[in-house]
Amino acid sequence: MLLTIQAKRVLEIGSLGGYSGVWLARALPPGGELTTIEKDPKHAQVAQEAFDMAKLHGRVRLIQGSALDVLPTLHPGFDAVFIDADKEPLPQYFDWGMKLLRRGGLLLCDNAFFHGAAVDPNDRSANAVGVRAFNELAAHDPRLVATIIPVRDGLVVGLKTRDRA
Ligand SMILES: C[S@@+](CC[C@H](N)C(=O)[O-])C[C@H]1O[C@@H](n2cnc3c(N)ncnc32)[C@H](O)[C@@H]1O
Repeated sequence: MLLTIQAKRVLEIGSLGGYSGVWLARALPPGGELTTIEKDPKHAQVAQEAFDMAKLHGRVRLIQGSALDVLPTLHPGFDAVFIDADKEPLPQYFDWGMKLLRRGGLLLCDNAFFHGAAVDPNDRSANAVGVRAFNELAAHDPRLVATIIPVRDGLVVGLKTRDRA
């Protein structure tokens, strides 16, 4: 997917042990960089070890911190933004993703179905509300053409086609 848009700068929110980060970074050309944000210091340490073991030196910038603190410090122009962290702030992650993506960039978000909660109107938990709000934003924002790929827990894939609504 990253190859189709010739992605060089990719942002990930939620590194955990670096599994997805290794694959994202490996898809980048020489000179490309993955920036990945992780709140939990232990997860960040494991992720850094995974990147080191995968010999991705110079290709991954791991920032340990809470996403909403880190996102305002980043320079816009990312080719892709992959959101895979906490669910309650997903509408804020949507806004930041759209701000930080270049036109023609990809907005990706895991757990679109949230184990069924996304389509259960009786589930009013903060996480389910966050996932539903993100899906609504992705479906209706005129700057984005988006769909959900129904693999496992669902992946939102959106192409930012415009800078302004
Ligand atoms: C589902 S895991 C990420 C999995 C990883 N992307 C992968 O596929 O290998 C979610 C991660 O997001 C982190 N996280 C949760 N809330 C966060 C926040 N507000 N800011 C940054 N990271 C956060 C968690 O600590 C956890 O490591």
